[in-house]
Amino acid sequence: AQIHWFPGHMQKARREVAEKIKQVDIVLEVVDARLPESSRNPMLLEMLSQKPRISILNKADLADKRRTKLWLDAYEKDDQSAIAIDAQHARQLKQIPQMAEKILAEKIARKKARGIRNPHVRAMCIGIPNVGKSTILNRLVKKNVAVTGNRPGVTKNQQWLKAEGNLELLDTPGILWPKFDDQIIGKRLALTGAIAESVFTDDDVALWGLEYFQANYAQALAKLYKLNADELALPAHELMTHLTDKLGFGEEYDRMAERFINDVRKGELGTYTLEVPGDKIAERD
Ligand code: G4P
Repeated sequence: AQIHWFPGHMQKARREVAEKIKQVDIVLEVVDARLPESSRNPMLLEMLSQKPRISILNKADLADKRRTKLWLDAYEKDDQSAIAIDAQHARQLKQIPQMAEKILAEKIARKKARGIRNPHVRAMCIGIPNVGKSTILNRLVKKNVAVTGNRPGVTKNQQWLKAEGNLELLDTPGILWPKFDDQIIGKRLALTGAIAESVFTDDDVALWGLEYFQANYAQALAKLYKLNADELALPAHELMTHLTDKLGFGEEYDRMAERFINDVRKGELGTYTLEVPGDKIAERD
C-alpha cells in the first residue's frame, strides 16, 4: 500500500511518532540496506531527542554485500549501533535484543540497583513504508500481531509485546515519510519500489537506474542483457533505445523502461546498493 503524503499527514505522523518515542528506551530505526541514507526519514534524528537507537539495515539479502560492509563501517566510525539483516531469517534478528540490552546496560543496572529484578527494555520500530518494519516486529515477538497496513493515524490501544530477553516492543511500528523531495533520492527510492514510481515517470527512473548500473554494476547488465563492452559504454539513453530494440519491444521505449525497473526490483540484476557512505545527499538531517 502506498501512502500519499500530504503536509497534514506528515504533521500527524510526526506528532504520533514523537509521542511514542517518549515511551521507549531505544528506537529501532529500520532502513533499506540498498539505500541506507535515502530510505531514512529526514526528521527522525530531531524527533529522537537523545534516545539511543539501533540502525537496522534490512533487506540485506538484496543489497551489495561489499557496500553493506562499507555502511556498517561508517556507522561504527560514527559510534552508531547498526546491524544488517534479512528479516525473513529469524536467526539474524536474535542480535537485536542483545544489542539493545548492551546499549542500555547502565540504565538496566540502575534499575536493578533500585530493586527491580527483571527490568524490561522498551523499544519500537520506526521507518518509512516498505522497509520491513512489520516483518521485523512480527519476527521479534514471534507472533503475527503487527498491523501491516501502511496507515499513519490508525490509532488504537497500544500494547507492549514481549520479545526475547527483557525486550518489549510497541505493537505498531512508527511510520514516517521518505525524503522524496530530492530528485536523486526520489529516483533511488522509486527504483527499489520503496515509493510509487508515479512520482516520477518510469522513463526517468529507468534511465537514471540504467546509468547507475552502467557505472557501478556493468557486469550484471552485460550478463542479463548479453551486452558487449561497446554497448555497455553507450550513453544511457542510447543504451535504453538499443535494449528496447534488442529485447523485442520495437519502438516501445516505455516498455523497456518498465522491464528494466522490474528486472532491478526482482533481483534479475543481482544484489545492488544505490549509494555509498559519503555520497552527496542534498537534504541532510
Ligand atoms: P513495512 O512494515 O516497513 O511497511 O514493511 P513490511 O514488513 O510490510 O515489508 C515490506 C515487504 O518487504 C514485504 O513484502 C516483506 O516480505 C518484504 N521484506 C521485509 N523484510 C525483508 C528482507 O529482509 N528481505 C527481503 N527480500 N524482503 C523483505 P511483501 O509483503 O511481499 O510486499 P511486496 O514484496 O509485494 O512489496
